[in-house]
Amino acid sequence: MQTFATSKKELLPGAAARKIFGLIADEMSLVEAEYERQVRSNIQVVNYLGDYLRASGGKRVRPALLILASGASGGSTAGKNVISLATVMEMLHTATLVHDDIIDNADLRRNRASVNARFGNQTAVLMGDWLYMSAFETSLQERSLEILDILTRLTRKMTEGELIQLTMIGRLDISESDYFDILKRKTAFLFSACAEIGAILAGASLERQHALRDYGMNLGIAFQLADDILDLTSEAEDLGKAAGTDLLEGKITLPLIYLLKNDPSLRPKLEDVMLTGAYNEISRDAIRRSLDSEGIIGRIRERALEFADAARKNLDVFPETEYRVALEGIPKYVIDRNS
Ligand code: IPE
Ligand code: IPE
Ligand code: MG
Ligand code: MG
Repeated sequence: MQTFATSKKELLPGAAARKIFGLIADEMSLVEAEYERQVRSNIQVVNYLGDYLRASGGKRVRPALLILASGASGGSTAGKNVISLATVMEMLHTATLVHDDIIDNADLRRNRASVNARFGNQTAVLMGDWLYMSAFETSLQERSLEILDILTRLTRKMTEGELIQLTMIGRLDISESDYFDILKRKTAFLFSACAEIGAILAGASLERQHALRDYGMNLGIAFQLADDILDLTSEAEDLGKAAGTDLLEGKITLPLIYLLKNDPSLRPKLEDVMLTGAYNEISRDAIRRSLDSEGIIGRIRERALEFADAARKNLDVFPETEYRVALEGIPKYVIDRNS
C-alpha cells in the first residue's frame, strides 16, 4: 500500500531510490562483501547468525549515506576506510534492530523471522552484543579518536533512547518534546553520525562536517516520522516487519499525540489497546480512519517535509556534485518509501 500520495511529476520512491543508490552501486557491493567478511567467524554459530542477518538485507540507507557524504565532501567513495566504516554503521544498525526486536517481542524483521523468534532471546542478546563489539573493533582500525568518540556517544544515546522509551510504555500523556527526544536518540543520531563520519573521512572543513552532521539529524527525524506513520497506515507484507505494533506495545507516537489532542474521547479506547495488547475496543482501521478524517497523516507528513527541507538546506555549503544531488534526494525518498 502506498502511504503518501506522490505527484506524477515526481519520481516514485522506487525510481528515486534507484537514482540515489545507482550512483554508488559499486561501492554498495563492496559494503556487502565487507559485511560478509566481517561476520565470517571461526565460531560456527556466529558465522551462521551473522550470515542470516546479512543475507536478510535491508535498505542499507545508513552506509549509503556515509559514502555519499564522503563523496560530497570531495573524498573517496570506494576507499578501504570509507567502505569499512560504512559497513560498521550497518552492523551497528543491525545490532540495534536485533536488540529492539527482543524488547518489542517482534517476530518479523526484513520479511524473515527475527533472530529472537527463530533462535530465542538468549541467542539474540548475545548476537546483538557480538555485532556491536565487532563493529567497534573494526572502527578502531581507523585509529581515530574523533570517530570513536562519535560512535561510543551514539551507542550510549541509542541505548538511552530505548531505556527512556521503556519508562514511557503505556503512557498516553507523552509530550511532543518527549517524543522528539526519543526519536532523535533511537534513530536520528545514527543518521547524523553516518553523514558526519563521511565528512571526517574526506577531511572536510569543520563547517562542512557540521553541515553534514545537521543534515543527518534532520534526515533521521524525517525518517522516523515516516516510520511511525507507516506503522499506522501500512501492512506487514509491505513493511517486512509487523505493522500496527507501536500502540500494541504501549508506544504513543506523534500521529497519536495529535489524534488524542483533537479527539480526547479516544483516550480510553487507545488506553485499552495498550493495556490489553489487542485492538478490541477500537480497530486498527477505525484509528486509521480517525487519523485521516482529522488530517493528521497529512500534518505529520508536512512536519517530515519541513525536516527534509532543512536537511537539503544544510547542503548549501557543498559544491554542486552528483553526490550532493543524491544526498538532496534522500529526504524525499525516506518520506515517500513504502517499507
Ligand atoms: C528500521 O530502520 C529502524 C528504524 C529506525 C525505524 P530501517 O527502516 O532502515 O530498516 P532496514 O535496515 O531497511 O531493515
Ligand atoms: C527504531 O524504533 C529504532 C531502533 C533503534 C531499532 P522502532 O521500534 O520504531 O523500530 P521498528 O519499527 O521496530 O523497526
Ligand atoms: Mg521495534
Ligand atoms: Mg517503528
